[in-house]
Amino acid sequence: MTAAFTRVPHPSLVTAADRAVLMEDPGFGRVFSDHMVTIRYTAGQGWHSHKVEPRGPIPLDPAASVLHYAQEIFEGMKAYKTDDGRVALFRPEQNARRFAASAERLAMPVLPEDLFLEAVAELVKTDADWIPEGEGSLYLRPFMIATEAFLGVRAANEYLFVVLASPVGGYFKGGKNSVTIRVSEHYTRAARGGTGAAKCGGNYAASLIAQAEAVANGCDQVVFLDAAEGKWIEELGGMNVFFVFKDGSLQTPPLGGTILPGVTRASIIQLAKDAGVTVREAPYAFEQWRADVASGEVVEAFACGTAAVLTAISKVVSPGGDFTIGDGKPGPVTTDMLGKLVGIQRGRVADPHNWVQTV
Ligand code: COI
Repeated sequence: MTAAFTRVPHPSLVTAADRAVLMEDPGFGRVFSDHMVTIRYTAGQGWHSHKVEPRGPIPLDPAASVLHYAQEIFEGMKAYKTDDGRVALFRPEQNARRFAASAERLAMPVLPEDLFLEAVAELVKTDADWIPEGEGSLYLRPFMIATEAFLGVRAANEYLFVVLASPVGGYFKGGKNSVTIRVSEHYTRAARGGTGAAKCGGNYAASLIAQAEAVANGCDQVVFLDAAEGKWIEELGGMNVFFVFKDGSLQTPPLGGTILPGVTRASIIQLAKDAGVTVREAPYAFEQWRADVASGEVVEAFACGTAAVLTAISKVVSPGGDFTIGDGKPGPVTTDMLGKLVGIQRGRVADPHNWVQTV
């Protein structure tokens, strides 16, 4: 199926020279491209009004359900310039699939996966000038909100799907390649039966206070423990986590409904397995981590996600005392996995699973 997108002509608001300045050091999520894609949904009518239009404010009735009951989901993905000059997406169908799963969990209509992919490609092609050269990328933020003006608590009958694009560098300030994390003492991210596996704004809203506490304590990210026992490591505020053991094996918390099924997480598991590395998707207790670092059993840890890519964890702050991992620099396994992943994304090495799709 190919949808007909109405194109609203729009000369760029910035000159090529200004755009180059903006993209020199864009940081994360502060600079935006010229256009957005919008598609509307009305119950009984389906998806309609597909547009590529100038990026700008969205008119929203103050009674729109998203503003009251937070019916919202989103995705994070990136368009890259490959070394041979192509524009590529990395496993975009995985984002389309997860978006559909998130929609189901939030009682929202499921955007057909091919329409999701088409919308993303439309924006990338339209705003290709905004894809940074070098190691930067164009971060894509598809999202959907409930727009029906109605205050009763039920799933809305009207929705707006939008895709935004933002040229980005590293997620962490100053492009740092190792981060410090702090265990959330009072707050959890998701409980059994909740929305932990969905990529919905509410999960992130609920994490902000714990993230702010981590920052107030000099850390970059919060790490959440499970809601039932407060014992098992789940994920960071905006990314999954891996542990590297001294025998070279990897471990990451298992998906069980409370953890976001990261595309980067799944890719690392696959790449490690391809290389003959043992990967365990198994619960890992926080206190065991502390003990394993002290005994030298665990030698590295890293955070991973579309935005963070792979970022080493160098220090952990917790009520029971702080501990450091390695010498503050990314260790060899983290560096190797990062190189493998980015190598595929940039077309520098073979792509055995056909993950990279040229737009
Ligand atoms: C991503 O890694 O793309 C995310 O969505 C995490 C965060 C920036 C919200």
